[in-house]
Amino acid sequence: MRKGLTRSWTFRAGVVLIGVGLASFLQLRYALATSPDPTAMKDRSCSDMACHGGLTKRKVLHAPVVDDACDSCHEQENESVHVFTFPEEGNALCTDCHDEFEGKHVHEAVESGECITCHNPHSSDTEGLLTSESIGELCQECHEEVTEDLAFLHGPVAAGECTTCHQPHASEHGALLVSDGNTVCFECHEDIEDALREAKSKHQPVEDSCITCHSPHGSSHKMMLTQSSPSLCLDCHDDVSDHVDEAKVKHSVVTTGEGCSNCHLPHASQHTTLMRDEQARTCLSCHNKVIESAGGIIKNIGEKLATNDHHHGPIQEGECAPCHAPHGGEHARLLLEEFPATFYSPFGEDRYAVCFSCHDVEAFEESDVADETEFRNTTQNLHFVHVNKSKKGRSCTVCHEVHASKTRGHIAESVPFGKWRLPIGFLATETGGSCQPGCHRPYAYDRENHVKNLPEPKAAAAATE
Ligand code: HEC
Ligand code: HEC
Ligand code: HEC
Ligand code: HEC
Ligand code: HEC
Ligand code: HEC
Ligand code: HEC
Ligand code: HEC
Ligand code: HEC
Ligand code: HEC
Ligand code: HEC
Ligand code: HEC
Ligand code: HEC
Repeated sequence: MRKGLTRSWTFRAGVVLIGVGLASFLQLRYALATSPDPTAMKDRSCSDMACHGGLTKRKVLHAPVVDDACDSCHEQENESVHVFTFPEEGNALCTDCHDEFEGKHVHEAVESGECITCHNPHSSDTEGLLTSESIGELCQECHEEVTEDLAFLHGPVAAGECTTCHQPHASEHGALLVSDGNTVCFECHEDIEDALREAKSKHQPVEDSCITCHSPHGSSHKMMLTQSSPSLCLDCHDDVSDHVDEAKVKHSVVTTGEGCSNCHLPHASQHTTLMRDEQARTCLSCHNKVIESAGGIIKNIGEKLATNDHHHGPIQEGECAPCHAPHGGEHARLLLEEFPATFYSPFGEDRYAVCFSCHDVEAFEESDVADETEFRNTTQNLHFVHVNKSKKGRSCTVCHEVHASKTRGHIAESVPFGKWRLPIGFLATETGGSCQPGCHRPYAYDRENHVKNLPEPKAAAAATE
């Protein structure tokens, strides 16, 4: 880039030098050859139409030219010859009247160049006496690389409004910016400033600097991103990157379609972890329908929640991630921990680790209990009876719904058993309940008054092993 800039800079400076040289040469030649009679010209205005009137024909006139104060810049060395020199060289000619530009950063084109590279000393058709038709054109004569080959251009850059962000002469801020850091961007993107101020979770790099992710002028990626998502995100979040790569069970949406943006906002959010919406609602934006995936049919969780009033604790809190790994994981159905996928499973704390990360395993360990579980016939632990087997213990989902149900205790209405949907027929009472399942005859339990079931469920359960 520097090369291109230096080339055009040198080129321009060259043109200026040649221009000055040629102008002086022409003046001298004009003076010698045609030599208007200086005494005859004495009382005439220099900008008289017949002579230098062209200088005043354009839209914007420099104040001293309006005043015909040509001599503030052109000194006639000898009254008898029409030859003029400059009282000062370069910028000094201008800074006689204009303040010198000061600031921590002075534009090299101002510092080392001449004001007249950018300004016409007499007049111009462009505001600010510019030598080009627009600011954008002027700047790009030396900085064409700024917008070169970019598929997506920033609004103000496309409009050639470089000075909405840059000072042309000098600035206290790096890159000649009109203000510091994100303030430059907030001049126009007020909505993002407001969103950041009011957000519950804010993305640290956004608070640090917008241009960590966006190129200020434009980019070959949409939204002027420095890279396309998800690689933009994964470059910083290498822990997530490793996790996504290594996950045995993938959640394809993390890296396809909108990628990270399927669930996260890039700047700030009213919800935790930059979620687009409340976490559960974010998940349900897709899981509100049956999904056919390579792994089979995935149930419509949204409908389940809408038609069953009793929502499981974490879902009441608006969360799915206490049980599921959103970026992919080691266990079937993206579960964070182990959970049997089958009707029967040998019992073990680690087998049901998903559930025992919140619920006490004590409710399943002893055949006799005091109050470790509500699923008991006085002291007889019916969780133990059904679940705690070395081979064919019943999985929690044989009796429970994990997302939502119509009853207290999240008891399922039915459960798939082979091709049959085995009914459960649970009826709750104040102090217990009963079921009429497809497994055995109706049984009841009561925490206060022991119910005598014939035969005892213990024996019936043992019989099915
Ligand atoms: C603010 C300073 C300034 C004032 C005021 C000024 N000039 Fe100039 N003039 C210049 C500079 C600098 C150049 C050399 C421009 C270049 O090389 O591009 C110049 C060049 C010229 C030239 C050479 C050819 C050209 O057009 O560039 C003429 C003729 C000229 N001026 C006439 C005038 C007349 C007539 C007036 C008064 C109506 C005037 N100038 C007022 C700064 C000034
Ligand atoms: C004799 C004093 C004087 C000199 C010398 C002078 N200027 Fe000016 N210039 C003025 C005045 C007066 C104004 C009008 C100021 C205002 O409107 O605030 C002005 C205005 C300007 C403007 C703003 C024009 C606009 O329409 O926005 C530019 C640009 C400018 N001058 C550039 C230059 C350059 C470049 C030089 C040197 C080649 C120069 N001036 C030399 C007096 C001078
Ligand atoms: C790199 C190009 C560039 C150079 C070099 C440059 N200017 Fe400017 N100048 C601009 C632009 C662009 C504007 C803004 C025009 C606008 O916004 O309408 C401007 C505006 C001005 C103005 C109007 C008031 C202001 O400050 O905005 C003055 C006066 C001025 N320049 C004087 C100078 C003088 C004197 C020099 C040399 C010391 C100089 N400029 C060098 C580009 C340049
Ligand atoms: C005559 C050539 C020329 C023109 C016209 C010019 N520039 Fe520059 N600009 C330079 C040079 C030379 C540098 C220093 C090279 C560098 O920083 O790489 C520079 C540097 C810059 C920088 C970087 C400053 C920094 O501190 O990093 C910015 C921003 C810039 N110019 C903006 C502009 C804008 C905006 C315009 C139009 C108003 C403009 N330039 C017009 C020659 C020019
Ligand atoms: C929306 C604000 C904005 C606009 C409009 C804008 N720039 Fe910049 N520009 C920046 C920022 C911010 C930087 C600093 C980039 C950095 O630090 O990496 C910058 C840096 C630069 C640089 C320094 C080198 C570089 O590429 O980093 C140049 C030169 C430059 N801009 C020229 C221009 C030109 C020419 C225009 C008009 C065509 C323009 N800019 C329009 C915001 C803007
Ligand atoms: C002078 C006003 C202005 C400033 C300053 C400004 N922008 Fe913009 N920006 C715009 C406009 C106008 C659009 C186009 C809006 C649209 O199309 O809806 C835009 C669009 C964008 C877009 C979306 C691009 C797209 O393809 O839709 C991003 C990203 C952006 N700006 C980032 C920035 C950053 C970063 C900064 C600070 C370096 C900044 N803007 C400063 C005016 C500005
Ligand atoms: C961590 C990277 C990152 C940072 C830092 C960042 N953005 Fe963005 N920005 C994005 C991504 C990704 C998108 C595209 C969002 C999408 O496609 O849903 C975007 C979109 C935008 C848009 C267009 C859509 C909209 O929301 O209006 C604007 C404007 C924008 N950003 C401005 C900014 C501003 C201003 C800052 C600094 C305060 C900033 N960005 C900081 C990543 C970032
Ligand atoms: C420049 C580096 C960088 C980039 C690029 C980046 N991030 Fe971040 N991100 C961070 C840092 C730093 C944090 C805060 C520390 C942490 O939690 O690791 C963070 C935090 C987060 C958080 C947690 C926020 C919270 O409230 O807990 C999420 C989610 C996130 N980023 C998503 C993204 C997404 C999506 C993208 C791509 C659009 C992205 N990040 C791009 C650096 C980055
Ligand atoms: C399917 C929705 C979804 C997608 C797609 C997604 N995330 Fe997340 N992400 C989440 C959820 C939910 C959390 C909160 C996890 C929690 O609270 O335990 C999270 C948390 C995070 C966190 C903070 C905690 C952590 O795990 O480090 C980061 C950083 C993060 N995501 C980055 C990303 C990146 C980068 C992408 C894209 C590659 C991405 N996410 C894609 C849903 C998603
Ligand atoms: C953008 C749509 C989308 C979003 C948002 C989304 N998912 Fe998914 N999800 C899918 C698709 C499609 C599948 C099918 C498998 C695949 O493609 O990876 C899937 C698969 C799953 C599975 C695995 C089912 C199985 O039996 O293998 C679970 C569990 C899951 N998603 C949970 C979540 C959770 C929790 C969230 C929120 C953090 C979420 N999803 C957000 C689209 C989405
Ligand atoms: C308390 C833990 C837990 C919570 C919270 C939870 N799930 Fe699940 N989810 C499971 C278990 C266990 C399974 C596997 C058993 C089953 O399919 O009934 C599962 C299965 C799934 C499946 C696969 C269904 C199929 O057809 O195989 C999807 C999709 C799913 N969950 C999405 C979600 C969404 C979306 C949320 C948040 C609204 C959520 N889950 C909250 C534990 C949970
Ligand atoms: C993240 C913590 C968490 C995980 C993991 C979890 N649960 Fe829960 N569970 C709760 C909370 C909190 C409640 C209480 C909700 C309430 O009071 O309404 C609850 C309630 C229940 C209830 C109903 C209790 C009642 O009195 O109505 C059952 C049954 C249940 N969970 C089964 C399970 C199963 C089976 C698993 C494993 C697939 C599991 N839970 C995983 C937090 C969790
Ligand atoms: C044979 C059916 C059945 C199986 C299998 C089963 N439960 Fe239950 N569970 C129940 C019933 C019935 C209740 C409700 C008792 C009441 O409220 O009257 C219950 C209650 C619960 C409760 C509420 C607290 C308590 O202990 O009373 C939790 C938590 C719970 N079960 C978790 C699990 C977990 C975890 C598994 C798998 C490891 C599991 N259940 C297996 C039938 C079962």
